[in-house]
Amino acid sequence: MKDSLWRQPYLIDLTYADNFRLVKNSIRGRNLRILEIGCGTGFMSLELARMSHDVVGIDIDDRIIRIARRTMETDPYSKTRGDLRYEVADFNKWFDAPGTYDIVLFSRVLHDLPHPRKILSKARSLLKNNGRLVCLEYAYDRMNRRAATWLYQIQRTLELTDGYSSHPSENPREGVDNIMKEDLYGRKEHINKFEEMRHPLEQLFHRERFSWHCYYCWGVFSDMRIHDWNREKALARLFRGMEQLLIDSGEIQPVLFHFVGTKASA
Ligand SMILES: C[S@@+](CC[C@H](N)C(=O)[O-])C[C@H]1O[C@@H](n2cnc3c(N)ncnc32)[C@H](O)[C@@H]1O
Repeated sequence: MKDSLWRQPYLIDLTYADNFRLVKNSIRGRNLRILEIGCGTGFMSLELARMSHDVVGIDIDDRIIRIARRTMETDPYSKTRGDLRYEVADFNKWFDAPGTYDIVLFSRVLHDLPHPRKILSKARSLLKNNGRLVCLEYAYDRMNRRAATWLYQIQRTLELTDGYSSHPSENPREGVDNIMKEDLYGRKEHINKFEEMRHPLEQLFHRERFSWHCYYCWGVFSDMRIHDWNREKALARLFRGMEQLLIDSGEIQPVLFHFVGTKASA
């Protein structure tokens, strides 16, 4: 865990736990059947099962599903939680009966799946009538230069004070250009743009909620290395708070969105 955000509980609280709170607040009802697509190490599926829902988590990566299963098997709440099952599967090739699930959840995976309309149609067919789609996703094509400039300033300041493990360019213009390039195109060959995801979401589901959230700070937290944990925690809270402020005042364009919609009739 030492190279990930999971190295510190206070970083989890400002990132993964925050995302999970959004998901949890999108779900109403008891003992629901939930499918999580691209569940990764399964922390959301596990928490949802602990809330007594029956959960299936699928992920294409067998190594990551091994971690999810290991965590599941050592869960101290296993006797009181709902059913929990993880499968190694590519969602494109995975089948289950139509109308099986109350909730289908995508957390930070839809951007990665080519043909999002096809993917979302399939997710829709797996939902029961009035079932709910919950999608938490980032859209890096929304990153603007102001956000990249703000990020560069934080990264470079941390680096100059020995608190950062990567090395942004010494030249501010080049540093900002690099952030823009890397986040837009450097991540993957394929990455869905915001509109490519938003359109099918809006067309296939009745929108119940749509909101934007902090996400730029995740990248900073990943590379931040401050030996004094109290200082690191205070700085992490400051960066997270600043990002929220800049989003709220419209100074920077946020990239993480939260969409909740119900299955619209055909
Ligand atoms: C950024 S991780 C997100 C993990 C977790 N949902 C979260 O929010 O932390 C994206 C996950 O989607 C998985 N994934 C990518 N393509 C997939 C596919 N076609 N079918 C199933 N899982 C896929 C990846 O293996 C990875 O674990």
